[in-house]
Amino acid sequence: MTHHKLIIGNCMSMQEIPDESVHLMLTSPPYFNAPFDYKGLFKNYDQYLSVLNRVAREVFRVLQNGRIAVLNIDDMLVNGEKFPIVADATKIFQSAGFRYRDRMIWKKPDGYLRISRRSGVILQNPYPMYFYPDNLLESIIIFQKGKFDYRSIPKEVREESKIDIKEFSDNKWYMTLWEMVNVLPGSPLEKEIAAFPEELPYRVIKLFSYKGETVLDPFAGSGTTMKVARQLGRNSIGIEIKKSLISIIKKKLGFDGQLNLDNRDDTFEVIIREGGKYGCIS
Ligand SMILES: C[S@@+](CC[C@H](N)C(=O)[O-])C[C@H]1O[C@@H](n2cnc3c(N)ncnc32)[C@H](O)[C@@H]1O
Repeated sequence: MTHHKLIIGNCMSMQEIPDESVHLMLTSPPYFNAPFDYKGLFKNYDQYLSVLNRVAREVFRVLQNGRIAVLNIDDMLVNGEKFPIVADATKIFQSAGFRYRDRMIWKKPDGYLRISRRSGVILQNPYPMYFYPDNLLESIIIFQKGKFDYRSIPKEVREESKIDIKEFSDNKWYMTLWEMVNVLPGSPLEKEIAAFPEELPYRVIKLFSYKGETVLDPFAGSGTTMKVARQLGRNSIGIEIKKSLISIIKKKLGFDGQLNLDNRDDTFEVIIREGGKYGCIS
């Protein structure tokens, strides 16, 4: 039996979550003013970084010692200027107390066409200085809070959470390059949400948490992390600022009665924060 809690509010505060009560954090923050999704969401880049800073500090507080925080994030091109978000987010998480452990690259299929084909410019003008690459990559950056105590996990939980080495090898989880198909435009539950594919939380949750533990996604979006956490026998906490996403998340997790999971006693709770201390970001 697992428990899933959705908090509707701003994740710059995680006031409902006690210190050291979360075992894994995985999230993809909104892109900085992405022309295709979040145009003009933040007043400026400093405001964006200050949100990440508050979130990093809260994540550090709620995570248990030794545990992992994973960000799916990438540099963002806005009006011809690239913002070094991966570097800045790494510095921010380090200054919140985390150790920077790894950087994975998520490669989308070659045919990924979401963003307009910038490389087309050179086809029209096949001369030097007209080169603009198409971006098929995103980063997955991994941080750790302190040192993990491997002996703290009971033997049976360790066995229940064992990683399938065939799946690990066949799908090349061992490389820093993870090739995963993006969510296809037009998917009904992810409409207007920059959702990541289930494969991403699937790998991260299997690699960095044990069964029965709690996974947090502070920018829950459509609830992909929460859904996969449920499927993998983990509890989840999602924070999402948009109240309108409650029904999508409920549906995605299967709490509208559609998803037939064996463990029918799983619970879903929604906390709606009224007039919180922090204003809305979107
Ligand atoms: C990139 S999407 C996350 C998508 C998610 N990974 C999924 O698969 O559906 C970012 C989400 O963060 C939400 N958001 C933005 N600012 C927020 C804040 N300060 N607190 C909580 N949620 C926020 C947005 O409404 C959006 O749904």
